[in-house]
Amino acid sequence: MDPHSLTITDNRTGKSYEIPIQYGTYSGYGATINALDLRQIKASDEDFGLLTYDPGFTNTCSCKSSVTFLDGEKGVLRYRGYPIEQLAEQSTYLETSYLLLNGDLPNTAQLNEWSRNITQHTMIHENIKKLIDGFHHDAHPMGTLVGTVGALSTFYPDAKNVHDEACRQKQIWRLVAKMPTLAAFAYRHSCGLPYVYPDDELSYIGNFMNMLWKASELKYQPNPILEKAIDVLFILHADHEQNCSTSSMRMVGSSYSDPFSATSSAIAALYGPLHGGANEAVLRMLSEIGSVKRVPAYIKSVKSGEVERLMGFGHRVYKNYDPRAKICKKLAGDVFAVTGVNPLLDIALELERIALQDDYFISRKLYPNVDFYSGLIYQAMGFPVGMFPVLFAIARTVGWLAQWQEFILDPDRKIARPRQVYCGSDERDYVAMEKR
Ligand code: CMC
Repeated sequence: MDPHSLTITDNRTGKSYEIPIQYGTYSGYGATINALDLRQIKASDEDFGLLTYDPGFTNTCSCKSSVTFLDGEKGVLRYRGYPIEQLAEQSTYLETSYLLLNGDLPNTAQLNEWSRNITQHTMIHENIKKLIDGFHHDAHPMGTLVGTVGALSTFYPDAKNVHDEACRQKQIWRLVAKMPTLAAFAYRHSCGLPYVYPDDELSYIGNFMNMLWKASELKYQPNPILEKAIDVLFILHADHEQNCSTSSMRMVGSSYSDPFSATSSAIAALYGPLHGGANEAVLRMLSEIGSVKRVPAYIKSVKSGEVERLMGFGHRVYKNYDPRAKICKKLAGDVFAVTGVNPLLDIALELERIALQDDYFISRKLYPNVDFYSGLIYQAMGFPVGMFPVLFAIARTVGWLAQWQEFILDPDRKIARPRQVYCGSDERDYVAMEKR
């Protein structure tokens, strides 16, 4: 018998099946069985065969991927093998983007070419500006982003050639380059301010700050500490393997939709408060708590179920301190030295202190996640809370694209089409209206 196999005995029939175990790495981590191997297990010849039931895909691998490695028990996160801590300290967002997309760090010539291609694609069509103008002044910028990124597919109909490598590359440049422009325009629209066009002489982040905050000065000069802080936050958010939005990107991409439509769907998935909307929810929660002395009562209401969740705590995969949260907490100090301390910081620190000693949170392995501190930093920089998930979306675009590209090149790719356990009525005859 193959030692790398599983023997399953079906007690309904007494039959045994030997199923291969595959892909185990890192001392057994990630060992899987092929779900289709279960289909041969049948109660009778007419039986369809055994399926698995896994709401929320908590124990199902939807793909093989080489982009990001995550060990939630140990609190480890690596992009293409490089620890997140090293990238946050030594890399830049554009360099990390190249790494995620191409698999290796670029040399100088490769980085210059990649940066030049991004800089050349930052402009958006004037009609997209008109589209943004059409949104209500208080439109949530994530809604505006979902709409405008989706609309880009109509401006670049060539994007549907998803099997053409050169064409794919062009859409990647366009998306990475235009996301900050779309986000900044959505922000300026919500403030009733005129749009600021990209400045090619600034860095990727410096230009984003320019489009957000340039006033009447002739040339915008980004504060280097804040520029670096946004760059690091973008690196931390650049990819996180098969989460809700990335799975949406792969799922929509699996029907060979163009990457603008697929990215728009990923942004929509990110919008929810359990995912990218969490940093916005953290800030609202901290403001609602209002003072350090009300923290114990708030924790009590979370535990009793009166308040549903402690936002910024817990993670589907991390059952340890999220390594990104550690970096964010440290980064907050650098930013607050420039902006002044966010008054909500004390409430956050007290929440963390109490929660990490409380059995409810300890027993469920609930630790601060990346969103617990990132919102405080963004708020101190002057971003309104509605922009927090937008910042997440800009940074994550490259991760979505790296995963989408990997999907398109994967010989095992298939249109995503889960099964269901049907629990509805058995066949019944239509009843005429007068007889109901
Ligand atoms: N506060 C209080 N209790 C919680 C929390 C929380 N934040 N998160 C999970 N729990 C409890 C939950 O009630 C359940 O308790 P019980 O076993 O008694 O029913 C247990 O912990 C397990 O929860 P779960 O819902 O099965 O866990 P999940 O893996 O499905 O959820 C999560 C993960 C991130 C959706 C959840 O922890 C959560 O809602 N956190 C708050 C929202 C948040 O901060 N999201 C950002 C995630 S990081 C950024 C990103 O990747 O998007």
